[in-house]
Amino acid sequence: MIIMDGVPTPMRCFRECHSAEMFTDDGVETVTSVEQKKVERTIEEVVNVYKQIHSLPQPTLLREQHYQYLKKGLRNLSDAYECLDASRPWLCFWILHSLELLEEPIPGAIASDVCQFLARCQSPTGGFAGGPGQHAHLAPTYAAVNALCIIGTEEAYNIINREKLLDFLWSVKQPNGSFVMHIGGEVDVRSAYCAASVASLTNILTPKLFEDTTNWILRCQNWEGGLSGVPGLEAHGGYTFCGMAALVILGKEHMLDLKALLRWVVSRQMRFEGGFQGRCNKLVDGCYSFWQAGLLPLLHRALYQEGESQLSLQRWMFEQQALQEYILLCCQNPTGGLLDKPDPEIFTTRVTA
Ligand code: FPP
Repeated sequence: MIIMDGVPTPMRCFRECHSAEMFTDDGVETVTSVEQKKVERTIEEVVNVYKQIHSLPQPTLLREQHYQYLKKGLRNLSDAYECLDASRPWLCFWILHSLELLEEPIPGAIASDVCQFLARCQSPTGGFAGGPGQHAHLAPTYAAVNALCIIGTEEAYNIINREKLLDFLWSVKQPNGSFVMHIGGEVDVRSAYCAASVASLTNILTPKLFEDTTNWILRCQNWEGGLSGVPGLEAHGGYTFCGMAALVILGKEHMLDLKALLRWVVSRQMRFEGGFQGRCNKLVDGCYSFWQAGLLPLLHRALYQEGESQLSLQRWMFEQQALQEYILLCCQNPTGGLLDKPDPEIFTTRVTA
């Protein structure tokens, strides 16, 4: 549940209802434990200052600031974004997807300009590149196709060359069922998800194209319960979402060990911070509110289909209020946009402004 600007809720703050325990290092100080405690102290400070200066029991979403930030980004980005020159369709997708979540309409002229820009990113050999004139790659292909589907106009759909897209997908498919991210590039579970997503959205998905992909993804689930980027590595939230979501698209998610996955993902919600970490023993990061928390509805559905009929239809299987408070209190930039974790400097500006 998202709390809109200025609308109070009768719920009490998560921290007032639960004793959010801070990390104890059992007398063994490590680089990791020092970093963990530093993050917790910052969060504690953010929460304390919030409690002192606000009368509402719940923080709110800075809807207008986020909207203005996103709208501006579709026209102008600062030079801080130069490093994302090979990820330009991602910028379109992230912004359009956020506007869609905020239920803000995309003006027709901007939508058309985005379509024409993405058309310039489409490679003559199929798929989309990170920018005009670059090589086709599965990640910007995913971003571009999803962005065009969000726009959802005739102009947007007509841009996607489905025959060439299928050629591109075949060109990155590997004999063992996995996909490389681009010709000559690396294999990991992101590519299986990107390929399944775009194939499904454009209706070119065939069992032959994804032959052995399910088995390859299943090999990424390890003893921890989560999935790694390739078989045999450490489980990570980003890859786990990709693997699970790809299997949902392929209709094979029931082949995972769903209960082990559930145990792993709920253990990644940080007991003090309320947000999620990506992997065991690492720091909280707002991006895992998507990759990890996004797994829970997928798991809920899969477990329900497996006959777990006692599952609540009211809430997901994690502490939603704690995550909401982490995002709203610790991750919002007062001028719009989201942070991975609270920045004491930004926060001081916010509370003293
Ligand atoms: C940080 O790794 C990694 C991320 C913040 C992104 C993870 C997301 C994915 C792998 C999914 C990408 C999906 C698509 C569709 C392309 P880190 O080692 O710096 O962070 P950590 O300490 O939190 O593990």
